[in-house]
Amino acid sequence: MRDSYPDPRKKAPLTLAARTNLWPLTAMGYETWRKRALTLLSGRPFPLAEELSLMVQSVQPVEGLQFLDLGTSTGVYARALLKAGAARVYGLDLSPAMLNVALRKARGHAGFVPLLARAEAIPLPGASVDGVVVGGSWNEFPQPQAVVDEMHRVLKPGGRLWIMFSHRSSSPFQRMLGWAGLRFPTLPELMDSLSKSGFKVDGWRERSVGFVTGTKVTTGGRGHS
Ligand SMILES: C[S@@+](CC[C@H](N)C(=O)[O-])C[C@H]1O[C@@H](n2cnc3c(N)ncnc32)[C@H](O)[C@@H]1O
Repeated sequence: MRDSYPDPRKKAPLTLAARTNLWPLTAMGYETWRKRALTLLSGRPFPLAEELSLMVQSVQPVEGLQFLDLGTSTGVYARALLKAGAARVYGLDLSPAMLNVALRKARGHAGFVPLLARAEAIPLPGASVDGVVVGGSWNEFPQPQAVVDEMHRVLKPGGRLWIMFSHRSSSPFQRMLGWAGLRFPTLPELMDSLSKSGFKVDGWRERSVGFVTGTKVTTGGRGHS
């Protein structure tokens, strides 16, 4: 089992999509898009409140525990977890502009800790968080297996995982976003990657967007004890 986080100097180059997240204007407007995101992606009315409730229910228990929101952007998931009673939520993102907005929006929610870092090299000790949540950022990570391994490392045994992602379709819109560096995995690809690293997939739901929940198991998995 890897005890320390990987050397963050070995970074993949930033994709066009990742670079646009560095712009302050993207960060300022982000939540306007986010409120409508799942309605647009799933093709049915899908309010953000419904997604947040699904996420919080899926990672229970939350109260008094510590979470990591990977690719937090402006902290939408982080605030929902703190509102539900989490003691601390690390909001990790590579964009200082996004984290600045996240910090401003998290005022009044004690327990938000911003982490300026890459999801492929999480600056937290092994087995230090009770849950990891990923909202949409899954489509932006250029090295998904490295991220799965890192999530597995930082989670405590039995820790809970939630991933919301947009899965592969034949849409021309996806092809265009692919040029900007976004990836659209299939559900089996994601489940395979999770089980290789030592996660048990507990459940999933799928439309144009997929929701996957998992648990870190204590045995099995590649290179983990
Ligand atoms: C689509 S947004 C998702 C935001 C958020 N999770 C939500 O539910 O609203 C993707 C975010 O992931 C961040 N990101 C992309 N690749 C990353 C990486 N390799 N490491 C850390 N953050 C990353 C981007 O900066 C951006 O803020």
